[in-house]
Amino acid sequence: MDHFNYRDGRLYAEDVAVADIAAQFGTPCYVYSRATLERHYRVFDAAFGAHPHLICYAVKANGNLGVLNVLARLGSGFDIVSVGELERVLAAGGDPARVVFSGVGKQAHEIDRALAVGIRCFNVESEAELERIQQVAERRGVRAPVSLRINPDVDPGTHPYISTGLKENKFGIDIADAPRLYARAARLPNLQVTGVDYHIGSQLTQLAPFGDALDRLLDLVHRLEAQGITIHHLDLGGGLGIRYRDENPPQPSEYAARMLERLHALPYEILIEPGRAIVGNAGILLTRVELLKLAPYKNFAVVDAAMNDLIRPSLYSAWMEIVPADATLERELRRYDVVGPICETGDFLGKERELGVVAGDLLAVRSAGAYGFAMSSNYNTRPRAAEVMVDGARVHLVRAREQVSALFAGEQVLPA
Ligand code: LLP
Repeated sequence: MDHFNYRDGRLYAEDVAVADIAAQFGTPCYVYSRATLERHYRVFDAAFGAHPHLICYAVKANGNLGVLNVLARLGSGFDIVSVGELERVLAAGGDPARVVFSGVGKQAHEIDRALAVGIRCFNVESEAELERIQQVAERRGVRAPVSLRINPDVDPGTHPYISTGLKENKFGIDIADAPRLYARAARLPNLQVTGVDYHIGSQLTQLAPFGDALDRLLDLVHRLEAQGITIHHLDLGGGLGIRYRDENPPQPSEYAARMLERLHALPYEILIEPGRAIVGNAGILLTRVELLKLAPYKNFAVVDAAMNDLIRPSLYSAWMEIVPADATLERELRRYDVVGPICETGDFLGKERELGVVAGDLLAVRSAGAYGFAMSSNYNTRPRAAEVMVDGARVHLVRAREQVSALFAGEQVLPA
C-alpha cells in the first residue's frame, strides 16, 4: 500500500497534487512519500514482534539523506556496501552501532573508518577479507565484529542479474567451507565472531527460497555451535519483492511468520536487510512529455526522463507502470513506446503502453523509489533529477536538481 492515489482524476502524493510538485520543482523529479516509508518500516518491525530483531535498511536502494533520516528517526539500522554509504548514514543521523557492512570488495580505508565509528558488524565475503579486517583491526588495537556471508546455493527465481545466492555468483562463502573459516576467524585475535548471514537475491516473489536458505543456514549454525563457536545473530539479508505489475509477493508479515516458525524458539537476534520492500513503492518519477513522434508502425512518446534517470527498464527489462498525472484530460488513446532523449535504442521507460497524451502532459512512473535515483547517472551530460519528499501537505526538496556546470566542475582542459 502506498500514498500515491487519484483524487477526482488527479494524482496525489499524500495531500499534494503531483502536478503542483512538477510546476514548482520541474521534471524529471523523484517524489517520495514519508507516510509510505514509515508504514513499510513499521510493518516489518511489527512483523517480527517481540523476537529480538533489527531492521537494517539497505542504503543502496535509495540513499537520499531525507529517506535515511526518516528511517533513522524510527530507529532503523542500515546495511551499507561502501564508506560513502556509511557517511550518508552518519550525515542523516543514523546510529553507527546499527550498521552492517556488506560487499565483496571492502577496502582497508573503508574498514578502518567503519571501525572508527563503531559499526555493528562486518558481513565478510571471503577468506582474504577476513585476513584484511584482522590486519586493520590490529593496527587500530580493536576487535572487529564479524559475520560470514554464506552462499547457500539456492535459486531465488528472479532475474539473473539480481540473483546472488547461487554457487556460481561472486557473493558469499561456500557453505561447505564455512566451518573451516569460522574456526579461522575464532582464532584471529582482533576478530569477534558475532553472526552468520546470507542474501540470496532481490525481487523474490516466493517464500520457498527464503525458507530453503534458512534451513541451510540453521544446519550450519548447529555445526558451528557444536564446534564451540557462539553465534549471536542471524542476518537473513533482503530481497522481498514488491508489486510492479501483477506480481503477488508475500507480505512482510507472511515472510516474518515463515522465518519465525523456525527461529522463534532459538536465542538468535534476527537482522534483515530490506531495501526495495521499504522504499520501492514509496517513490514515483515525474516526467513530462516533450513531443509525440507518430510513425506508421510505431508511436513514440518522447519524455524528459531517460535511462540515466531510471535504468531498470533498460537493464533488467523491468516493467514499471506509467500513468498520467491528470486522468481527466480528453485524449486520444494510442499505443506508445515511452522513450527518453538519450542516444541509445535501449533508452526507454516502457514499451507498448496504451496512453492518452499530448506534448506537455505530465506522467508518473510508479514504484520508482528503489534503485531509481540511486542508479542514475550523468550519461549524455544530463543533470540528475530533483528529489522531493512529501509529508502530508508539505513538500521538502531533499536533493536539488544538478546544474550542468557542476557536472564538469572537476575537469580540466590541457595546459596551453
Ligand atoms: N543486502 C544485500 C547484501 C544486498 O546485496 C541487497 C541488494 C539487499 C540487502 C537489498 O535487497 P532488496 O531488499 O532491495 O531486494 N538494482 C536491482 C536490485 C539489486 C539488488 C542488489 N542487492 C534492481 O533494480 O532490481
